Amino acid sequence: MATIGFIGSGNIGGTVARLAAAAGHEVVLSNSRGPQTLADLAGEIGPLASTGTPVQAADQGDIVVVAIPLRAYRDVPGAPLAGKAVIDANNYYPQRDGHISELDSGDVTSSELLQRWLPGARVVKGFNNIYYRHLRGLARPHGAADRSALLIAADDPAAQAAVTEFLDGIGYDTVVSGTLAQSWRQEPGSAAYGGVYGPFEIEGGTPVSAAELRGRIQETRPPGAPAAP
Ligand SMILES: NC(=O)c1ccc[n+]([C@@H]2O[C@H](COP(=O)([O-])OP(=O)(O)OC[C@H]3O[C@@H](n4cnc5c(N)ncnc54)[C@H](OP(=O)(O)O)[C@@H]3O)[C@@H](O)[C@H]2O)c1
Repeated sequence: MATIGFIGSGNIGGTVARLAAAAGHEVVLSNSRGPQTLADLAGEIGPLASTGTPVQAADQGDIVVVAIPLRAYRDVPGAPLAGKAVIDANNYYPQRDGHISELDSGDVTSSELLQRWLPGARVVKGFNNIYYRHLRGLARPHGAADRSALLIAADDPAAQAAVTEFLDGIGYDTVVSGTLAQSWRQEPGSAAYGGVYGPFEIEGGTPVSAAELRGRIQETRPPGAPAAP
């Protein structure tokens, strides 16, 4: 079993941490306010959970999940993430994050921006297009008839393989949407984003197969491209 580090341990980071610990991984939680503020969450998760600073979570994790407001991406420590698979769960919402010109222009995807900030890391976009309650509710054992798939995007084949194996262990099949440059296919505004796993009011979510997700990524178009007539 691996150690999974978390930079950001809120709705989405905390949910992935619960699933990871349930699958037998050790989890290291971190946030901006300090380890002492994560004691309750670690206690709920159980003996496989510990708390630390973002540097400690990055240092100790074999795989590290970044799940913070995108505006804070420059706080993610680069040195301890060198060579590691980093799962980028973040989304760009200008009304929340402030405007970032490269993202507004569509020159880069938000995961490319994180990859540029972490040049030694192997960024994989993932978990960004599923509501955290649905993520918790839809996990199923390998081979279950109603198992759901999650989208990832990656440039590095080894990191892609490591994340696929991790997702399988926590209850999900994987569909690759493309490279980081193509990860707009799962960004806000795409057909693969928002409500894919059912309405937010349905606590447990609605299963979505790999075949259905593949259809969603075919339907999408680059940001800014004109709609089909
Ligand atoms: N909510 C969802 O269902 C969902 C689903 C998919 C993707 N996302 C995306 O995932 C990201 C996180 O969303 P969320 O809903 O999990 O947010 P959240 O519940 O507000 O949690 C954010 C976490 O990030 C931490 N954080 C904030 N600034 C930080 C910094 N500078 N360094 C380290 N940690 C920091 C926060 O800790 P402090 O409180 O100590 O600052 C908190 O633990 C966003 O980009 C969001 O768009 C969300």
